Order: sequence, then structure tokens, then C-alpha cells
Amino acid sequence: MSVHTPMDGAGAARRPVTIHDLAAAKSRGERFVMVTAYDASSAALLDELGVPVLLVGDSLGMVVLGYDSTVPVTLEEMLHHTRAVARGAGNALVVGDLPFGSYQEGPSQALSAAVRMLKEGGASAVKLEGGGPMVEVTERLVTAGIPVMGHVGLTPQSVHQFGGFKVQGRDDAAAERIVADAVALADAGAFAVVLEAVPAAVGRRVTAAIEVPTIGIGAGPDTDAQVLVWHDLLGLTSGRLPRFVKAYADLRAEISGAVKSFQSEVADGEYPGPEHTY
Ligand code: KIV
Repeated sequence: MSVHTPMDGAGAARRPVTIHDLAAAKSRGERFVMVTAYDASSAALLDELGVPVLLVGDSLGMVVLGYDSTVPVTLEEMLHHTRAVARGAGNALVVGDLPFGSYQEGPSQALSAAVRMLKEGGASAVKLEGGGPMVEVTERLVTAGIPVMGHVGLTPQSVHQFGGFKVQGRDDAAAERIVADAVALADAGAFAVVLEAVPAAVGRRVTAAIEVPTIGIGAGPDTDAQVLVWHDLLGLTSGRLPRFVKAYADLRAEISGAVKSFQSEVADGEYPGPEHTY
């Protein structure tokens, strides 16, 4: 059985994906995917395709809102897009990213932001970045009944601390810290941990060390799941992309072709034709 329970030919009932389905998938050794979503129509399509987890990532800031990093993204912006995704998502589990500045003050600030993400955003879980003090934050949210997805390795909200979007955990001490953070987050009750831009060996170690699923993005082939940003997966992003990105389509080219055809048909008087005219 897959993590998702899509409507099959026999018309089997679908039901919402829960964090327990993801844990069960790991225990069965079943890999799954998470994809980012920022609007209702892409969420509905991803849900129809049986993608079990939709992340309303704060990557929103870079791929949709035009910021240089995820740092400027606000909680209001995240809530606006999370609501849209939740409306389209059907049975997929919707995870809302807590943006920079909405939880770093500690458990009480984090709780307020996470409660808003569930009550106003319609998410079923939140994601937050980092280990260390975020272990206590995770514990507080989980105690309040809010499922938390951790995120370690390259945590983009700390881009200024890292001095750029750089691979993390390359030396032994840094690798140890990432493993220890992931273990502490899982012990605090996180239901999954994202591992971003770390050597494959670190991805493998963390995956073996914790019982909850690891979701890799540039963490090698041995994590329990993989996540890609919608725009990267579809070939909508341009410029220099991280090594871990694989575009499964070339939608930039498709869209360019479609828009050029529209332009030339309008210029030539070909569109609208009689079939498009009242
Ligand atoms: O914001 C985001 O899209 C993310 C994923 C890349 C994991 O955090």
C-alpha cells in the first residue's frame, strides 16, 4: 500500500494522509515524495497525482514573491498561500513553513505562529528550521498537539550566518552536530526531519539513527523520502541551480512556445477564430 490512498480503478475511498501514515511508510521501507505548493490549483493537481505531503515552503519568497532569500517572508504571506494550498489539497497532508522571525524568540512565540498556521492557514503541521534551541520549541508545539517537521543541514533562513547557500556537514564535527540535532528533534516529537544539502553519508546516518522519516533535498539517495520545489521539478526556474535539482519537465520552454504562439496568432488575426467567437 502506498502512503497516499488514491482513488483506484475499483473506486476505493480516499482518506486524508496523516503523520502516522508517513511513519508506517518508513517502517515498511516505502519511499515517498513531498512537493512544495503555493496555490490551490497546483495543490489540487498534486493531490490528484497521489503526492502525500505538500509543503507550503518559505521558498515561496524566492520562487513566487521575488525575494533574494527566504528571510523577508512574513507569517501573513505564508498564511495567505497556505490557505490557498489547503483549499486545493484534498487528502494530502499540508505542512506550513514557519517563516524567519515567527518562532526564533522561543516556544511561546512559536506556539502563537504555529496555532495561526493551523487555525487560519488550514495546515495540518508546521515545519521549522534548526536544532539546538528548536528542540525545546518542537517539544512545546508537539505538547500542544501540533505536528512538527524539523529541518537541519542547510537551513536557508540562516543564509547570512552560513555566508551563502552552502553544503553543510562536510567535516566530522559538523556532521556529528547534524546527526545529534536530528536525533534531538525526533526525540522531542518531530514527525519527520528534512535534511538539506548534506553529504550522502550524513543523510544515511541520520536516516538510520531516527525512527521518523527523513526527507532529503540534496542529502543523497538513502533518505526515506525526497522533496523538490515545484518550480525546480517542472523546469520553471532559470539561472544556476543547486546540484540536487532535477527538472522532470521543461515548462519554461513549453510556456515560451505557448505565449509566442498566442502573440503571433493575435498579430496575424488568427485568434480568436470562429470557434472562439459568440
Ligand atoms: O521552503 C522550502 O521549500 C523548503 C524545502 C526546500 C524543504 O524548506
